[in-house]
This record gives sequence, structure tokens and C-alpha cells, in this order.
Amino acid sequence: IDKFTYDPGFTSTASCQSAITYIDGDQGILLHRGYPIDQLAEHSSFMEVAYLLLHGDLPKKKELEEFDYTISRHTMLHEQLATFYRGFRRDAHPMAIMCGVVGALSAFYHDSTDITDPQQRLIASHRLIAKMPTIAAMAFKYSIGQPFLYPDNSLSYTGNFLRMTFGVPAESYEVNPIIEKAMDRIFILHADHEQNASTSTVRLAGSSGANPFACIAAGIACLWGPAHGGANEAALNMLREIGDVKRIKEYVARAKDKNDPFRLMGFGHRVYKNYDPRAKVMQQTAEAVLKELKLSDPVLDVAQELEQIALHDDYFIEKKLYPNVDFYSGIILNAIGFPTEMFTALFALARTVGWVAQWNEMISDPEQKIGRPRQLYVGATQRDYIPASKR
Ligand code: CMC
Repeated sequence: IDKFTYDPGFTSTASCQSAITYIDGDQGILLHRGYPIDQLAEHSSFMEVAYLLLHGDLPKKKELEEFDYTISRHTMLHEQLATFYRGFRRDAHPMAIMCGVVGALSAFYHDSTDITDPQQRLIASHRLIAKMPTIAAMAFKYSIGQPFLYPDNSLSYTGNFLRMTFGVPAESYEVNPIIEKAMDRIFILHADHEQNASTSTVRLAGSSGANPFACIAAGIACLWGPAHGGANEAALNMLREIGDVKRIKEYVARAKDKNDPFRLMGFGHRVYKNYDPRAKVMQQTAEAVLKELKLSDPVLDVAQELEQIALHDDYFIEKKLYPNVDFYSGIILNAIGFPTEMFTALFALARTVGWVAQWNEMISDPEQKIGRPRQLYVGATQRDYIPASKR
């Protein structure tokens, strides 16, 4: 029975070959198609990174303009989908709405469900990348009872998203370039992360030949969990709960207590056993955004102090636990004006780029077959059925 390798959590199983993202967890290195994440976050744009992940190389100027134009042509949602939103309770979690709406896209864009045609796969990818900001912004608008805003394609990808989220039809909306840049950077930092749980989910769903919208909906569902994308929401809630630097030690002690299930949210990573390079950029961005917006947030002080205490604590040193991408992102998103419920939806928006790139790579792989893990059976041996009256 044990001819299979038992690897719970797939800690040592390579499920695929991929040329998209490279991580060296011991060194804290993250490369997309060979480019270091800090360079991309500093100099690139989310649209450029999206092109890079999908096509393998950074676009030339004209290629980027064409890509931008193509994405902007797909930003609108089928009008019928607005009705779909209205079926949800107003207090529905945006991730619940995203799972439903993205899955439902397959009922509207039938041509994109033909996964055998590379051109159709590309169109499906463009549609998903383009529609995610509209879908996420509509989830937010629905929750606060404001009217949906149609996309404005004269704005950048990120500027358009901010307007659809924070604008109202009664007034014109000026995109703040500092917020736009910070938001774009957050999208870049979340764009892809090789075979994490949600990406593996997308690949596994896609390996059966399921349509791309269904596969991305599966990825969204997986991302929602607090051990994965839901950690940004959980991290900010935790920092708020700590509230004061004086209470940090109490929470650090709880995180170390074997009998307490509490964990420091935004800390630790399956692959990084060194500082998550995305967390570094995120921390700098958090400081810059608060400074530019002339805001002070006591939560940033709690976060920075907590990080320092944990980094010098034997438990965290021994277990190689460092802040991850989710530790500081919530502080920026909160400063921009997003409620915590939206945080994971923003992660899903950005990660869609990685998901579609990985999904395309998988389908194009000649060695691709349906994903079908085996198991070690530990249940009852064969036995005979006994009628209920005789049990
Ligand atoms: N606080 C306290 N202890 C921790 C933490 C933490 N945040 N993370 C791991 N540990 C301990 C854990 O208790 C275990 O101890 P022991 O060896 O004594 O049993 C050891 O470190 C290894 O942890 P693990 O759960 O076996 O490691 P994993 O690779 O399965 O889990 C993780 C990785 C990210 C799920 C985990 O570190 C965690 O739950 N962190 C908090 C949630 C979080 O921030 N998630 C976001 C991850 S990055 C973004 C994303 O992927 O979406």
C-alpha cells in the first residue's frame, strides 16, 4: 500500500515544470521571468508585469501600448451580471461574491471556454485580467449601497480601479498619483508566487479541462483562507486588536505557546526561511503612503515594533519566521480607504495575472495530464454489510 510517497502539504513535491517565477526561500529571492521583484516593484507597472508573466519577456513600448489597449477593451462586464450581484446580501463577503461572479463569467463568454485554441485562451486571460477590477469594485459598491460605476478606459488599469471603487456618479474623481502608484505596486507584489495553494488549485482544476473562469473561481476560493490570501485581513485585525506597543509581548508569548492556537498573522512562510522580499517593499511603501497622505496610524508603530521584537526572539529565529507580504499590505490598504473585507479581493485581482499565466503554461505543456494525487489508505478493511436491525 505504501508504494506512493506520502507528502502531506506537498512540502517536497514538484507538481510541474514552470518558467514563470523563481523563489529561493533561504536567500529571500523572488524573480519573475528572471527579474527581481524589488526592481519590478520600483520601476515597472502592473500592466508591464502582467505582460511579462503571460508572454515571458518585458514588452517593447509598442507592445505595452497594444496590451494596455487590449485589456482596456475588456473592462466592462455583461450588464446582466449586475443582476447577479443583487442576489447577494449586502453584508456578503466580497470574496463570496468574487467566487460566484467569476465562476458565472463562463455562462456569458462561451467562446472563451474553448481551451484547445491558444488564441481563445489568450482572450480569456485578457478578459479575466481586465474584468477583475470591475468585479472587485462592484462587490465593494454593492456592500456600501452605492451605484456601480462603469469603467473609464481613459485611466490606467489601477487608476480606473480606484475610480470605480471610490468615485461616485455625482462627482468627478481625481486619481491621486501617489495612491495610484502604491496600489499598482501592491498589485505587482501579489501578481504571482509560483505553486502556492491557490495557483496549484487553478492548475489542478484546469488539468481536467475545466474552463478558465471556473478555474480562476476555484483559485479565488482557495485564496480566501486565512493561511493564504486571507492573512492580510487577519494581520490588520490582529494589529488593531494588539492596539498598543505595550501589549505586543503578550501576543508574542501567545504565538510561542504550544497550547494556544494563536499565530502571528503575516508572519512565516512555507518557502521563505528568510525575509520575504515583498514584505520589505511593502514596509517602505506603507511608510511612504502614510507620509504622503500626512496620516499617522498607530497600527504602523505596532507592526514595526512587533517585527523587531519577533526578529530578535529565539522562537522566531529558530523557526525562521519573518514578516511575509501580508504583514504591511493591510496598513497601506487601510490608509487608502479599503475596508478589511476588501483586502483579499485585491489580492485575488492581482493574482489573477499569475493564475492565468500558470494556467496557460500548463495547458501548453505537452506533458500535461490530469492532476490526480494518490493516498495512503488508513480506513477499515473490507467488511460485509449488516442490515440496520442487526447492527
Ligand atoms: N506564528 C507563530 N508560530 C508560527 C507561525 C506564526 N505565524 N507560523 C509558523 N509557526 C510555527 C508553527 O507553529 C510550527 O511550529 P512547530 O514546528 O513547533 O510545530 C512551525 O512554525 C512551522 O509552521 P508550519 O505551520 O508547519 O509551516 P507551514 O509551512 O505549513 O505554514 C504558514 C506556513 C504561512 C501557513 C504559517 O507560517 C502561518 O500560518 N502563518 C500565518 C498566516 C500567514 O501569515 N499566511 C500568509 C502567508 S504569505 C501569503 C500567502 O501565501 O498568501
